[in-house]
Amino acid sequence: MRIERPRMRNEFTPAPMALVPSGSFAFDLYTFFSVSVLLFATNVGAADPKFVGSSSCAAAACHGGLAGHKVIGSEFPLWAARDPHAQAYSVLLTDLSKQMAARLKLSNKTAHESAECLNCHSPATAAKESTLTGHAPLAGVDCEQCHGAAEHWLTPHRRKDWKQLSPDVKQRLGFKNLSDVLTRATLCTDCHVGGPGRDVNHDLLAAGHPRLFFELSTFHANWPKHWPRKTDDSKHPVPDAKPNDPPGSLFEAKLWAVGQVVTAQRSLELLSRRATHDRTWPEFAEWNCFACHHDLESDSWWQLPNRQKQPHDALSWNSWPYAMLEPLARQTYGPEFRGSASPISGTLRLRLRFTTLRPPAPNIAAEAAAAAKSLRAWAMTLNQAEPTEAQKLFSPEALKSLRESLVGNEGQQLVARDWDSATQVFLAINALRYAEKGARGGLDSADEAQVQAVLDSMRKSLDFQNGYRGPRQSELRELKTLLIAPP
Ligand code: HEC
Ligand code: HEC
Ligand code: HEC
Ligand code: HEC
Repeated sequence: MRIERPRMRNEFTPAPMALVPSGSFAFDLYTFFSVSVLLFATNVGAADPKFVGSSSCAAAACHGGLAGHKVIGSEFPLWAARDPHAQAYSVLLTDLSKQMAARLKLSNKTAHESAECLNCHSPATAAKESTLTGHAPLAGVDCEQCHGAAEHWLTPHRRKDWKQLSPDVKQRLGFKNLSDVLTRATLCTDCHVGGPGRDVNHDLLAAGHPRLFFELSTFHANWPKHWPRKTDDSKHPVPDAKPNDPPGSLFEAKLWAVGQVVTAQRSLELLSRRATHDRTWPEFAEWNCFACHHDLESDSWWQLPNRQKQPHDALSWNSWPYAMLEPLARQTYGPEFRGSASPISGTLRLRLRFTTLRPPAPNIAAEAAAAAKSLRAWAMTLNQAEPTEAQKLFSPEALKSLRESLVGNEGQQLVARDWDSATQVFLAINALRYAEKGARGGLDSADEAQVQAVLDSMRKSLDFQNGYRGPRQSELRELKTLLIAPP
């Protein structure tokens, strides 16, 4: 059995790693608790508007691509040819999916007929209320999954005055306002983190499903787009820019910050749902995978002397969705960022509960729901930051200072914590580079090539190829000399 690390920005060939469960204690507990974790897999929102099928978007004069149209007007063929979402249904027909269906003993026997899989891979096929005649089996994650079920908006959408309608009016018809970063982040996390009826839990992972490592700015960068890239930038201009300034954009900065907070929020909501039912608790996917799974290499980075003191097999919380909350909160709230007034205080308290395998389910369910609410409120302020606040938070100087702290002490500590945190540090340094570049109007820094070389070597050190090795502290030190100009 293999587990892959997430794809990094601009990279599509991740290296696999062998995963070996360790310690028989885990086996006993596992057989005891794994009765069935697919309990929540039901159809998503019965009262939602109906899907009409994406073939109605594909007409030549609409989004089907008239001759000469490169992007605008050719969304359908672009999506069909390049977007991985177009394949999301057909991957349910592969041997891996068949293996998963057999191991999981799915309610409807095959993966491509089971709501447990279709709710993410082809929600239109899963929706019983659909107005589709028969199934739309090759639809995958199609236009309506992202832009909204078209039952109420398709007719007005075809009229000439559609473009004059406000985003609010469109939204009431079920057409999502995806230029809003918070709406976009919420959409992606519906499937890339999970939600009601959508749960990639340890049962699915053990049956062979890839682990869901979601980081919005990385996924967004890797996603083949069907709209001009400059649209995103131009819809999030730097506020109060002077006429002679290069046309800066806060899009990348917002995408990273809002993406981090929304991913954590949605993960907490999923945790709360998982803990609501005793039968599905404890859910192993909530813990650090490497507490129970570790490779057999004796020289793995876990034994390195500079690693934080933590017994090799200590249980800890799965840190992937939460690792960047502290750096971001510190940048936003200053020295009091851990205090009770901070939006992350509930999340930090929850972390302490995951040093055992039996934190009481009712407490976890309630605390996670409350912590998620604080994060949602924070995401809303980041998303709607008033110009003055945005100038402070998303200014090139603030982004640079956050990045500096990630290649400095704050980053070093996270890198030493665990592999998930280390990988998030790497992704963040990269994302903040693009964010800063955007805020500065696309200007490259002088040492761009050197920085890229160190980042490439850091990425290699996150590979699982030759045993399990985290990024070396030396790489962060090297970055520090490159990125933090001497006084
Ligand atoms: C919470 C949403 C969700 C659920 C539920 C889900 N998947 Fe997935 N699945 C994903 C996402 C997202 C990816 C892409 C992972 C990535 O690259 O980050 C994926 C990837 C896969 C892949 C790998 C595809 C490839 O191109 O390599 C297979 C196979 C798969 N899923 C099958 C299944 C099956 C079978 C089920 C049901 C038992 C299922 N999935 C349930 C969201 C989900
Ligand atoms: C995985 C999600 C996703 C899927 C699937 C998807 N889109 Fe999009 N689409 C987006 C996002 C995000 C944007 C950027 C929206 C914006 O800036 O307003 C976008 C932009 C667009 C735009 C440009 C809108 C504008 O105002 O510039 C069109 C047209 C469009 N999509 C049509 C389609 C069609 C047709 C399909 C199906 C073939 C489709 N989309 C599938 C997410 C998606
Ligand atoms: C309705 C569920 C759903 C939504 C919404 C969704 N995705 Fe996905 N996404 C998937 C599934 C399922 C896959 C796996 C498809 C496959 O492997 O064939 C996937 C795959 C991807 C991949 C390829 C991952 C890889 O490792 O190759 C990227 C990138 C991606 N999604 C980005 C996004 C972004 C960005 C958004 C939000 C704008 C989004 N997705 C919204 C379900 C969804
Ligand atoms: C509390 C201990 C524990 C934690 C934490 C844990 N697992 Fe597991 N895992 C097990 C046990 C026990 C098995 C063997 C039973 C089985 O295959 O279902 C297993 C099996 C697996 C398998 C199948 C291995 C094989 O050889 O077939 C995969 C893959 C896996 N886990 C992935 C993960 C991932 C990814 C995470 C983190 C998100 C994780 N596990 C967290 C205990 C754990």
